[in-house]
Amino acid sequence: MAGSIEKMIVVGAGTMGHGIAQTAAAAGCEVVLCDISPELVTAGIEKVKESLLGRVLKGKLASEDADGILSRMRAGTDPVSELEGVDLVVEAIPERIELKRELFARLDEKADEDTILATNTSSLSVTEIARATKRKDRVVGAHFFNPVPAMKLLELVRGQDTSDETIDRLREFGERLGKEVIVVKDSPGFATSRLGVVLGLEAMRMLEQGVATAEDIDSALELGYRHPMGPLRLTDLVGLDVRLNIAEHLYRELGGDQYEPPEILRKYVAEGRLGKKSGRGFYEW
Ligand code: CAA
Repeated sequence: MAGSIEKMIVVGAGTMGHGIAQTAAAAGCEVVLCDISPELVTAGIEKVKESLLGRVLKGKLASEDADGILSRMRAGTDPVSELEGVDLVVEAIPERIELKRELFARLDEKADEDTILATNTSSLSVTEIARATKRKDRVVGAHFFNPVPAMKLLELVRGQDTSDETIDRLREFGERLGKEVIVVKDSPGFATSRLGVVLGLEAMRMLEQGVATAEDIDSALELGYRHPMGPLRLTDLVGLDVRLNIAEHLYRELGGDQYEPPEILRKYVAEGRLGKKSGRGFYEW
């Protein structure tokens, strides 16, 4: 089996990408964080700095260790030119399959033989993304959760052609990052998004029908079921646009009424109420 993951690239410096980069650098990996413009990468690195500073101020992290994490991170704008000696690339770009396939095809041409290409997609087909490359066995889903440094799960998605060796290398990587690893077959929404979206959409339908307020619906699951965050507050954290995108994909692929996006979700997204990132979703932020 090829060696452990020491050097990696994260493509996409948004919410997920910068969190993945931070967590990998904290586990000792050398990470190049890439996005399409220097401004976007700088914004991602700034978020990492904020998160690390928060840990330092809370006394949970020594400031030398925070410096060490940052020293293992570098900014880039062209992942293809950074591929030499890289063990793993994790893609965290927008959820559009054609964008992902195009990126994977470009990475595949220049990456070393053993390099694994992973996608952080939350619902798209890993098999279809892999088939844009000539290394289908070394393509895998590596689905992280927001906020990445705090969330314990890494959902590995085994595409139709993903090899056991690739799963084993990513499992070892996930465990090194302090995650619990689960392995799920490549099917729409995998385990987490398929379940999580149904709960979120049902909560929105309840809000539309006036069953209870957003606060009370969230309290129902926070206090009645011990969820750390109710489904509407969580949708605000994840992004209403992200959830709409996943719901539309699942509705198209799986067809059940439970995946049909409620009107309130479409309306809020059309109005730019995207959740925490835009300052307003089901709540004001
Ligand atoms: N960066 C680093 N660490 C963070 C963090 C961040 N952005 N946010 C929280 N943490 C850490 C805190 O530092 C704290 O760590 P310590 O215990 O070591 O101090 C720990 O997480 C708990 O945080 P807090 O005490 O501040 O607050 P909390 O107990 O209320 O937890 C939460 C916050 C972790 C966000 C919690 O509310 C939670 O688990 N919410 C649900 C999140 C969730 O379900 N995420 C998945 C979304 S779906 C997804 O991401 C996938 C997709 O495909 C869309």
